Amino acid sequence: MAQWTATAALPQPRPFDPRAVRQQFPIFRARREPPLVYLDSAATSQKPDAVLEAMNEYYSLYNANIHRGIYRIAEQATAAYEDARAHLARFLNAGSPREVIFTRNSTEALNLIAYSWGRANLRAGDAILLTEMEHHSNLVPWQILAAERQVELRFIPMTPEGELDLEPLPRLLGDGRVKLVSVVHVSNVLGTVNPVAEIVSAARAAGAVVVVDASQSVPHLPVDVRALGCDFLACTGHKMLGPTGIGALWGRRELLEAMPPFLGGGEMIREVKLTESKWNELPWKFEAGTMAIAEAVGLGAALLYLEGLGMDAVFAHDRELAAYALGRLREVPDLRLLGPPLERRGGVIAFELGDIHPHDVATVLDSHGVAVRAGHHCAMPLHRKLGVVASVRASFHCYSVPEEVDALVEGLHHARSVFG
Ligand SMILES: Cc1ncc(COP(=O)(O)O)c(C=O)c1O
Repeated sequence: MAQWTATAALPQPRPFDPRAVRQQFPIFRARREPPLVYLDSAATSQKPDAVLEAMNEYYSLYNANIHRGIYRIAEQATAAYEDARAHLARFLNAGSPREVIFTRNSTEALNLIAYSWGRANLRAGDAILLTEMEHHSNLVPWQILAAERQVELRFIPMTPEGELDLEPLPRLLGDGRVKLVSVVHVSNVLGTVNPVAEIVSAARAAGAVVVVDASQSVPHLPVDVRALGCDFLACTGHKMLGPTGIGALWGRRELLEAMPPFLGGGEMIREVKLTESKWNELPWKFEAGTMAIAEAVGLGAALLYLEGLGMDAVFAHDRELAAYALGRLREVPDLRLLGPPLERRGGVIAFELGDIHPHDVATVLDSHGVAVRAGHHCAMPLHRKLGVVASVRASFHCYSVPEEVDALVEGLHHARSVFG
């Protein structure tokens, strides 16, 4: 059976102790003097030993292609890959592993829906409803589709506090033209946790299919696709302690069954003739060519690791640290926090520091060994709506500790003194 199960099932620290968690991440062990202050987990998370070992074991002990060889290590590789899928299905409380399609990342999962479901189902005069706080990955694929099919794009507005304003929702959905609603679960800029279940129920009542961009929620809090009630959900492995190059689309089986393939090639077919082909069954219909096998195995190990910590504990830790950070950041003169109150946000905090450009702030912070993100964070319309060109963003995960927030605050005081 899959090699990673044994390695990754190492006992996790209990009760939740971020300092002990941190010791299980080689990058933090390797960079002690000065310590790595990593406050950019919303861009990508760090990877624990368990994930790296699982991938190393695949390459070292049973490297083979999947779904084709009938020799032992090929079967072992196939089992490990499919175990990872089954694991992700359980993690999301999906009805079946067949509803989980591996992709390269969330972006590809969202494009898959736009290209396959969108082109099969949308006609001129239909509308797609998005929000003003979307990441470009949940905006651009719909813009391309809308231009191609003369489909209207509508938007749930965002308040100046960075929350969705659901008041116009009945009007936006009222004429029955909205066929698809796609909404971000947790904002990658403001950390806002959106009332997705409420949006899903209104959208489905209006006959729309609902997509949830869960890139920032699945890595940090318990996400249950059946409880959310959505039709599709996209997530990405590298933000959830897993490797880059692997993500997933979950979809309701009946919708996926009815959809045409996205990419054509090997493995996604049942039968090929010179001029036509028959498609494989789910989920392989959507997995053309050699997939990211080591990365799927690594993602499986990441899921096991996160489960060991407990997703409730991970989210509680994010919020505790966010509370501490919000308090400490308020001590910095001229700092303007963006986003909602703590009760409705996760472990992501964006801010401006006077009129110092975010890139200058980030450069000074880097000189203190503090890694933050500066810019528009792939959400230009969100920034435009808030009336800012760019922001500085600090974001946390299970290994983040209050000392990192202290280092951030110290660096911000220094940035103020440098730029006057
Ligand atoms: C909310 C949100 N959606 C989509 C994405 C795209 O993720 P990926 O680049 O892994 O496809 C991100 C990544 O930052 C994100 O934060």
